[in-house]
Amino acid sequence: MAVIPVNLAGRSYKVRVGGGLLADLPAQCGKLLRKDCVPVVTDTNVAKHWRETIETALLAGGHEPHWLVLDPGESAKSWRGLERVVDWLLGEEVERGDHVVALGGGVIGDLVGFAAAILKRGCGFIQLPTTLLAQVDSSVGGKTAINTGAGKNLVGAFHQPALVLADLDTLTTLPARELRAGYAEVIKYGVLGDAEFFTWCERNGPQVLAGDRALQEYAVTESVRTKARVVAEDEREITGARALLNLGHTFGHALEAETGFSDRLLHGEAVALGIVLAARYSARREYISEQDAERGADAIADAGPPNEIAALGMDADGRKLAAHMLHDKKMDAGTLPFVLLAAIGQAFLDRNVALDDVASFLDGELQAR
Ligand SMILES: NC(=O)c1ccc[n+]([C@@H]2O[C@H](COP(=O)([O-])OP(=O)(O)OC[C@H]3O[C@@H](n4cnc5c(N)ncnc54)[C@H](O)[C@@H]3O)[C@@H](O)[C@H]2O)c1
Repeated sequence: MAVIPVNLAGRSYKVRVGGGLLADLPAQCGKLLRKDCVPVVTDTNVAKHWRETIETALLAGGHEPHWLVLDPGESAKSWRGLERVVDWLLGEEVERGDHVVALGGGVIGDLVGFAAAILKRGCGFIQLPTTLLAQVDSSVGGKTAINTGAGKNLVGAFHQPALVLADLDTLTTLPARELRAGYAEVIKYGVLGDAEFFTWCERNGPQVLAGDRALQEYAVTESVRTKARVVAEDEREITGARALLNLGHTFGHALEAETGFSDRLLHGEAVALGIVLAARYSARREYISEQDAERGADAIADAGPPNEIAALGMDADGRKLAAHMLHDKKMDAGTLPFVLLAAIGQAFLDRNVALDDVASFLDGELQAR
């Protein structure tokens, strides 16, 4: 098992990565579970595979699990979903010093984390991420949010978990498409800041996705290490270091918005395409070579997520896609900073990107290569 500290003044915590962590939940959580009753929020897909493991572990540890099981999917991250979780936690008489358990992917983690942030002005929570995306990204760093009619993740809070247990066993029940989508976030860490890790991803992607446990542990651990370092440096995305983790997200968000935030394009798949587009747009601006941009695209293709937007069959042109970017929450005084590449492994924030140019670039990309 690997243990990665997230060092934040007064709010430090550990991320543990390994197998068998859920089956050992009481010992892993120790004093964080200070009462008999343990509130656990999850979704029906995750409950189907992992409820029994947690139930058995908690009962054996002398605890009584109380469950709130939600419908799966992005729609749970809504005002209604938030109200449901908060009301349930209030009914459970959760106190500020208690810890709510979030068992699931990024949807459950973001929703429960936000509920914990506002419940009685903030109670504790523990992240048990069960998707690759949640293990390498969303469970670490304390960004919590829900979606509203105006857009995704527009209402939320920074609220750090007290502990993250990334149990690699949970990846065995994750649908292959979700695993591939999550792997795009792993590749992202290489592309944005670690050329050596990117080369590792190029070599080992297929085996990671085929379920090689040692390689999965390395992929998750290295990703979490990078995220923890960046979060410790720039927790609230003020200096710009954390903003680099948004590589691929501005393009990706536009594609998610155009496809209606639906199963047509999963979040990780949108990020995968977004990384490809950010790399190719960096080549268009002559920051990197075409060859390097295509290395990024090939690594994504080898791991399986889509890497050509033409294949999405969207009824949109570049201007329409660029218009979605105006609603990006990273808009800053009328400009939208883009994370672009100076090299593979070297991302930077470009605040001088003209959306007209992005639109014409996207028009080119929408024609099949
Ligand atoms: N807070 C952050 O920093 C951050 C970062 C990235 C993404 N996100 C958010 O994360 C969300 C996407 O997360 P996600 O990709 O994990 O999606 P998700 O939570 O919807 O999970 C994907 C699907 O897999 C199922 N599932 C989860 N674990 C499973 C398992 N072990 N076995 C079988 N099925 C399982 C879920 O029920 C769901 O159907 C988005 O809302 C995105 O905005 C947040």
